[in-house]
Amino acid sequence: METKRLNVDINVDNGKSYAQAVDLLNNGEVVAFPTETVYGLGAVATDEEAVKKIFAAKGRPSDNPLIVHIGTFEELENYVDHISQKAKLCMEAFWPGPLTMIFKAKPNVLATSVTANLDTVGIRMPDHAVALQLLRQLRKPVAAPSANRSGKPSPTEGIHVEEDLNGSIPLILDGGITGIGVESTVLDLTLDMPVILRPGGVTKEMLEAVVGPVSQPSHTEQNSGKAPKAPGMKYTHYAPNAPVYLIDKEEKTIAMALETLHQKGLKVALLAPENLSHLAADWFFTLGQKDTNEEMAVNLYHALRSCDATTADLVLATTTSTEGVGAAIMNRLEKSAGGKWYSADIQI
Ligand code: TXA
Ligand code: MG
Repeated sequence: METKRLNVDINVDNGKSYAQAVDLLNNGEVVAFPTETVYGLGAVATDEEAVKKIFAAKGRPSDNPLIVHIGTFEELENYVDHISQKAKLCMEAFWPGPLTMIFKAKPNVLATSVTANLDTVGIRMPDHAVALQLLRQLRKPVAAPSANRSGKPSPTEGIHVEEDLNGSIPLILDGGITGIGVESTVLDLTLDMPVILRPGGVTKEMLEAVVGPVSQPSHTEQNSGKAPKAPGMKYTHYAPNAPVYLIDKEEKTIAMALETLHQKGLKVALLAPENLSHLAADWFFTLGQKDTNEEMAVNLYHALRSCDATTADLVLATTTSTEGVGAAIMNRLEKSAGGKWYSADIQI
């Protein structure tokens, strides 16, 4: 299959591009499109055969449910049983935006593989002109996971989608670089106390200001099975080919690590803020000009993907505080590294 990539950012003939995307979706095909977080790979969420094509193109395990994207507030009640007061407050405050809310699903409305046979469904309204235009023109719900091959970092540029899915999907709407760079926050609102299943663009602090206490189980709590979790969070994710090791954002620590690794004859790709670009790594991929969590989020997946174009034996990635979007960054980095931290005696 030939994969077309159409630029919807500056192309004067945008109308035709949307029409093609809508046609494909209406005909049971999949289409990749930008959102404010990462690119999604969409199919009409009520069309079982179309949704199955998403799983096939990504190589995604079938027990991992998909997020349903809607373009208007009114649509929500078509798919969910009950909209709680807290959910209403969150919708008002954060939609359109990077917040996915988990509701009890109305039975027999959405394709069964969207919910992976759970009785709940995750729904969000993306805050991106291209995504909203597509959804509002289509007037149907769109199931869309991130548009990467399963296990790879999520795509933050149209070209990333092409790298992963060229030849297996018909169309990519290319709207340039996504604004936030990490996926939406997944918030379970089916319990009395809302639970963050996946940290993302809307932070715990922002949620608590609107609905009061929200729990955000740590990595360890989620792994121990004590806390509810998003099925997708158990899979290896965001990983380049070379092993990733986490390291403190400390110039001296990194310089010493590079020296030790070079003495062992190992080639190293370093992911760090720009002010550490002078260090003697074999490859350097920036996590931002300014050393802020927002910039780090924007640059993280591009930097992780860039490692695959090198012959690095390992990747050192600098960590950050868990403040604000930092919680999402550290969650993704820990997965990418499989929890491994650099130490002088690591065996590659
Ligand atoms: O920002 C985003 O959320 C992007 C864009 C494209 O919207 N989408 C995205 O989808 O990241 P995906 O499939 O890569 O991640 C969805 C996450 C998975 O961890 C999945 O297990 C969880 O949401 N999830 C979906 N439905 C769920 C449900 N009913 N209960 C618990 N977790 C759910
Ligand atoms: Mg994903």
